[in-house]
Amino acid sequence: MNKKPSSKGKINQPRLVRGMKDILPSESNYWEHIRKVTERLAQDHGFSFAATPILEDKNLFVRSIGETTDIVEKEMFSFVDQGGDTLVLRPENTASIVRAYIEHGWVNLPQPVKVWYWGSMFRRERPQAGRYREFHQFGFETLGDGQPVNDAQLIMLAYNFFLDLKLDVSLQINSLGTKESREKYKKVLAEYYKSHKRKLCDDCKKRLLKNPLRLLDCKEEQCAELAIDAPQIIDYLSEEDTHHFTQVLEYLDELELPYSLNPRIMRGLDYYSRTAFEIWPNEEPGARQSALGGGGRYDGLAELLGGRPTPAAGFAVGIERVIALLRERQVYIPGPDTPDIFLAQLGDASRRRALKLFDELRLAGFTVAESFSKDSIKQQLEVANRLNISITLILGQKEIIDGTILFRDMESGTQEVVNYDKVIQELSKRIDKVRNHNDIKITRSENPIPREDENNE
Ligand code: HAM
Repeated sequence: MNKKPSSKGKINQPRLVRGMKDILPSESNYWEHIRKVTERLAQDHGFSFAATPILEDKNLFVRSIGETTDIVEKEMFSFVDQGGDTLVLRPENTASIVRAYIEHGWVNLPQPVKVWYWGSMFRRERPQAGRYREFHQFGFETLGDGQPVNDAQLIMLAYNFFLDLKLDVSLQINSLGTKESREKYKKVLAEYYKSHKRKLCDDCKKRLLKNPLRLLDCKEEQCAELAIDAPQIIDYLSEEDTHHFTQVLEYLDELELPYSLNPRIMRGLDYYSRTAFEIWPNEEPGARQSALGGGGRYDGLAELLGGRPTPAAGFAVGIERVIALLRERQVYIPGPDTPDIFLAQLGDASRRRALKLFDELRLAGFTVAESFSKDSIKQQLEVANRLNISITLILGQKEIIDGTILFRDMESGTQEVVNYDKVIQELSKRIDKVRNHNDIKITRSENPIPREDENNE
């Protein structure tokens, strides 16, 4: 820990590392909701959860993402550990999933193997809005089958995720063909850019020698202008590539899923072949686009990593970017459910009993709120009111001695003495009523979309 004294003689406070971000409790609604939507989609579409380590061998990404990509050239957090191994904080998860596929012999499972993941990725990019050095992705991968229906299912899933969140997005799609088609295209593209070399930014001048495809997604204005008139890969696809792409598009048409054919979608990673797509926020034309998610087919990746030929496809979504858009568009996100009961106590003996009762009620299936550290009953009832709870149970000294408990109806303020041994039985009767009543309220309030500040502190 950095303990260098500051100029004022105080100990320097440790700070967040540049480009990192704390996820605060005030954002938890967003994280929990997105996780729930993702889990639901995974279940509905038959994807199983898989988790791979954050630390991987550097070579895994050099071989898969490609040596001439920005990620490998300059963005990986890499270090040599005490044992002399060169490790990196993973910049993405597809390569790790393919490594796991090969290493655990998933080829012996029924194909395709469908997995999803959720976790931190690390890229040492220049921090700016929506770009962090640690960010979170969830992703879906379908491995072991090259049929275009898999590409379409993944695109449908990605699109449905945004629909479920009530976010209006646009799907940008392209085909990058197989390696052979791409090599042909690269030559033509390099010729085009050579004839405009003077107008290229310094980075692109270097990229031109190493990997001309990277020029197409350069964000510099003069390069973006040149990309508009550049030759398009679609004209260099083989017959099989074209057939595959046409089939994917036919599935999307059948689904009535709107898409834009975008010849400049190249993706920043070298492992793609054939289908490549990105999801962008649907914004005014001309607005600076930064992708919410992206993916595509990567049929050659397993072989690059020493496995058998394994056609595969997938996508990943950047969770911070999704949250930023939900906030910007003030989309209503449901908060946690209102607890069933509030449990109030008065005095040391009742606090002891209350902690035990809390656990018994939880085991009996009730959600219970409390404020055990407060002594005053008034303050505890205020909390119950703030949480909008209908029933408060009150345990005081008298109730402990009598073997009873008070049921307080929070709306009317009336209180009823109930035998302590009957508490669960009595609650069951009343809570069912409350739950039914709340269900009715929920359906009624669906139409008007509540404002964000009503929900998120
Ligand atoms: P990617 O396009 O590099 O693809 O990343 C996917 C998403 O992660 C991006 O669209 C963006 O939302 C988010 N993202 C990327 N970098 C940052 C950053 N520095 N800060 C915040 N968010 C970021 C992949 O990673 C591929 N593995 C996707 C894939 C899965 N392809 C096939 N399967």
